[in-house]
Amino acid sequence: MRHVVSALAAAASLACLSAAVAIAATPKENHAAYVRRDNAMKEIGRSFYVGIGWVTQGKAPYSQDTVAAAENTVRLIPNMVALFPIGSDVPESHLKPGLTTDPSKVKELVEKVQKSAVSLVDEVKTGDKDKIAAIFKTVDDACQECHNAYRKPYPPQQ
Ligand code: HEC
Repeated sequence: MRHVVSALAAAASLACLSAAVAIAATPKENHAAYVRRDNAMKEIGRSFYVGIGWVTQGKAPYSQDTVAAAENTVRLIPNMVALFPIGSDVPESHLKPGLTTDPSKVKELVEKVQKSAVSLVDEVKTGDKDKIAAIFKTVDDACQECHNAYRKPYPPQQ
């Protein structure tokens, strides 16, 4: 019994330790967390804006790749919850302050995107341009809700 208790205590203090470490991340770790977020956003952007968006704009033909892009988008969305750790709003990031200290807000915003994308794959599978454009807008609106509130503007494109 003593063994179990001390093992539990050890596990608990380890958990505390890693929680403390997570809060007091080094500048290098904070930068890495920002890079991870930036890369993850770009990956989802390639599937969503390029893979599907270009088809809605007539810049790319509809194909099985469009369906794969929809599946990839849906697969990547839940990962976004973990992209906003405390300290990751480093100066070089485009994340406005306030979100990293509010995990429930992150969860709420990501869940909205997830809900908006429930029928994304099915709609894209129809191959119907209007249907694809409509679901693209629904999902994009959910993405922009976070971008509008928490993403700093980028300099205008040249
Ligand atoms: C919870 C907030 C949040 C949600 C939800 C979110 N983003 Fe982002 N996104 C950001 C932030 C913040 C940045 C800026 C990254 C940085 O510099 O830290 C960003 C950057 C990006 C970028 C790279 C820069 C750019 O603007 O081209 C792309 C692409 C992107 N997001 C796509 C998406 C797509 C697509 C969705 C929806 C499927 C989405 N995002 C949902 C917060 C969010």
